[in-house]
Amino acid sequence: MTTPGTPAPFFRVENLTKRFGGLIAVNDVTFEVARNEIVALIGPNGAGKTTLLRLIAKLLKPDAGRIVFNGADITALKPWEVVNRGIAGTFQNTRPFRHLPIIANVMVPCLAPRARRRGEWVKRIEAKALDALEFVGISDLALEPAAALSHGDLKRLEVARAIASEPELLLLDEPLGGLNPAESELLAKSIKRLHKGGRFGRLHSEGPAVVMIEHKLKELMAIVDRVIVLDHGETIADGPPADIVRDRRVVEAYLGPDRVDVA
Ligand SMILES: Nc1ncnc2c1ncn2[C@@H]1O[C@H](COP(=O)(O)OP(=O)(O)OP(=O)(O)O)[C@@H](O)[C@H]1O
Ligand SMILES: [Mg+2]
Repeated sequence: MTTPGTPAPFFRVENLTKRFGGLIAVNDVTFEVARNEIVALIGPNGAGKTTLLRLIAKLLKPDAGRIVFNGADITALKPWEVVNRGIAGTFQNTRPFRHLPIIANVMVPCLAPRARRRGEWVKRIEAKALDALEFVGISDLALEPAAALSHGDLKRLEVARAIASEPELLLLDEPLGGLNPAESELLAKSIKRLHKGGRFGRLHSEGPAVVMIEHKLKELMAIVDRVIVLDHGETIADGPPADIVRDRRVVEAYLGPDRVDVA
C-alpha cells in the first residue's frame, strides 16, 4: 500500500494474481514503474510474462490484486478505457485488419480520443500513421494490405499501432521476435529513442515509460534501466541489468551459466 503522504507512483501493480484452472500463472506480483523508466520483464517460457501484460492491458481479469496508473485504480476498466488513459501494447494487435492497407491499420489507433486532437483532419491523422510506420521502418509498405506482411514486418506493424495512440506506458511483448540481428538492434534502439522522447515526425513530445518482454537479452539489456524476473508466476528478482545477470536465482531459473554481458 502507498504510505500516506508519499506521492502516488506513476504505475503500480499490487498483489496481482491470475489462475487458469489449477495453474497459478501470475502469483501475487507487486512492482512499480516510474514515468521515466524502461523496464524489462524476463523469465523462462511459461513464467507468466504475457499473462501479466495482458492483465495490465485489461485483456484478462485478475483473480486478485489491483493496478494503479497515474493515481487512479484502473483494475476494473475495459481495454479501450485503458488505452484512453494512456496504456497501449503490442499483444492486442496481433490480428490486423488483413485486407486494409497497412497505413489504415495504423490510422485506427490514431483515432483514439487521447491521440486525436480537436479539429484534426484526415490528412494529419494519415501523416501521424505514416510517422509511426517510418519509425518502425515499414513506411514503404504503407499501401500494401496487412495480409501481405512477413512475420517480422507484422511485429513492426504491431509496434507502430501501439505507439500511434501516443501512450504514456508502452507494453511490448517480444517486439524483436522474428527479426534478424540487424533488424532487432535497429528496433531496440528505436524503442529506446522513443522512450527518451526523441521526436519522430509529430508523435511523442515526451517518450512513454516502457515495460518490455523479450528473450533477446543482448539487445534488451543494452536499452533497459531495470529488469524484473518472473519464474512460475512469481517475481524472483528486480534490479538493474548488471545485478540481474549475477543473481544466483536468475542464473539458475533462466540465464544459465552463459551469462549475458552487460556493459
Ligand atoms: N488462456 C490460457 N488458458 C490456460 N492457461 C494459460 C492461458 N494463457 C496462459 N496460460 C498458461 O499460463 C502460464 C503462463 O503463460 P504465459 O504465456 O504468461 O507465459 P510467458 O512467460 O509469456 O511464456 P513465453 O516466454 O513462452 O511467452 C503457462 O503455463 C501457460 O500455459
Ligand atoms: Mg509470452
